Amino acid sequence: MCGIVGYIGQNDTKEILLKGLEKLEYRGYDSAGIAIMNENGVHVFKEKGRIAVLRETVDFNVESSVGIGHTRWATHGVPSQVNAHPHQSESERFTLVHNGVIENYSKLKREYLKDMELKSETDTEVVVQIIEKFVNEGKEVEEAFRHTLGLLKGSYAIALLDKQNTEKIYVAKNKSPLLVGLGDNFNVVASDAMAMLQVTDQYVELMDKEIVLVTKDSVTIKTLSGDIVERGSYTAELDASDIEKGTYPHYMLKEIDEQPVVIRKIIQQYQDDQGELTISADIIDAVNEADRIYIIAAGTSYHAGLVGKQFIEKMAHIPVEVHVASEFSYNMPLLSEKPLFVFISQSGETADSRSVLVQVKEHGYKTLTITNVPGSTLSREADHTLLLFAGPEIAVASTKAYTAQMAVLSILAAVAGKARGVNLEFDLSQELGIIANGMEVLCDSKEEMEEIARNFLATTRNCFFIGRAVDYYVGLEGSLKLKEISYIQAEGFAGGELKHGTIALIEEGTPIIALATQEHVNLSIRGNVKEVVARGANPCIISMKGLEEEDDAFVLPVVNELLTPLVSVIPLQLISYYAALHRDCDVDKPRNLAKSVTVE
Ligand code: F6R
Repeated sequence: MCGIVGYIGQNDTKEILLKGLEKLEYRGYDSAGIAIMNENGVHVFKEKGRIAVLRETVDFNVESSVGIGHTRWATHGVPSQVNAHPHQSESERFTLVHNGVIENYSKLKREYLKDMELKSETDTEVVVQIIEKFVNEGKEVEEAFRHTLGLLKGSYAIALLDKQNTEKIYVAKNKSPLLVGLGDNFNVVASDAMAMLQVTDQYVELMDKEIVLVTKDSVTIKTLSGDIVERGSYTAELDASDIEKGTYPHYMLKEIDEQPVVIRKIIQQYQDDQGELTISADIIDAVNEADRIYIIAAGTSYHAGLVGKQFIEKMAHIPVEVHVASEFSYNMPLLSEKPLFVFISQSGETADSRSVLVQVKEHGYKTLTITNVPGSTLSREADHTLLLFAGPEIAVASTKAYTAQMAVLSILAAVAGKARGVNLEFDLSQELGIIANGMEVLCDSKEEMEEIARNFLATTRNCFFIGRAVDYYVGLEGSLKLKEISYIQAEGFAGGELKHGTIALIEEGTPIIALATQEHVNLSIRGNVKEVVARGANPCIISMKGLEEEDDAFVLPVVNELLTPLVSVIPLQLISYYAALHRDCDVDKPRNLAKSVTVE
């Protein structure tokens, strides 16, 4: 988490850094800061809270053509001004921003900075103090930088300023994302390309344990041992309008509405010239050679994995296990003989998933990443990648990535199944097209969703989601959406499990959102609803056309029964959105969260 930016050139550094940080705010928003440098020294502005708060404190009269910036998701030390980045060395010669976690910072402090009282509680400050110590002992700055990096255990994306050299930014990366952007008479540094799209679309990717010396007209990449690395640039295929809210009040609402277009784009991207769904032969071979697939993911991506398991088992007849990434390493199941590991991650940067990837690669197992971000760490490090084509997802609560993940998993399952001779009784492209149309109808039903949110969720302190079969998995996702943005205590349960304990929580008026989209469990889930209603619950049943009953709160358009999660989640996303609005919550940036979770 955390986002960093840097700029060196001729333009107004402050505005470029602030605008860049605004684009990175999804990575954390506990505090923010910038350091700008000129011949008179380094000026640091930092504040607890959002970039908007920082903006108020920046002195726009200070001229500068080089600077660095940071937006923080707190790991070591509370959100506060003193813990906000940039951090400075004791003499204030060096100023540094950092994204990542320095795992051995206490040991480094004991070994190298024994008598020094640090100003902040962060792991980061240790780094800048050690660099200065080595320089004071006689090392050149670049050597001191490389030497310090060699001591660090953990993850970092770092940008460093030296007050005595206004012509250079020192940059380094290990396990945390970082790019250098190229311009005409300027260069930039950013955690992702979106941040600096305002000034350039040309980027150079950095690899772990590389350092970069950035001046306004040169970018020199070196290994930690000082060898020069040559690498070309690429054009970031991002449309600036993709990352703007446009007329929408929130990114989340925009991203919910984008889902039909994303599904159509996925169909198009995965179709060959004859209109057949296709996936590269390497990937299909990897899937079909596996005797078991292990899906590894976190949060919403884990929920997509649960649905993906149904797709793969039903359409390709391969057994699948789905695991929460943060648990897998510590509680590894007995693996099959020829496993394939599939990592699902919107950002491609989730540290919990990456740590499993590193582990299973050490055993030589085959790996596939399904991600929205080409070139992300999980994509680079896995044997194969499938892209989501969902466009940048900026709201912290994931919406369009979830439906895109399920769509891509369904295509993977169908194409692998076809190669294995499994007869799919429907045309998946056509069914996904019907889903895109159904999604449009649902996105046009905002008034009904707003009303449901108002009636059921405006004042409640808790809410339960129930369902059976895939409806249960969608309920888990609905409850995650609701709790993360509205702070209502929301939990998803398998309908039949309620009576084994949870039903004790039902009181007069407790909202129960029940999904009834599956014919084979329709009667049993409705039975579970009756059980809670008998105990005072306030039921909101979302059913599917053909299965509906008189008092259902909302009826979904018909889609293929196996694929219902792609549509049934949309009302839940919208209900959560409106519940958060009714409760005056910050929809796009809920408290304590960040979009890209790059710490374990
Ligand atoms: C919830 C949400 C998170 C992410 C999780 C994994 O709305 O966004 O639960 O799904 O942090 O992130 P990725 O998919 O980037 O690995």
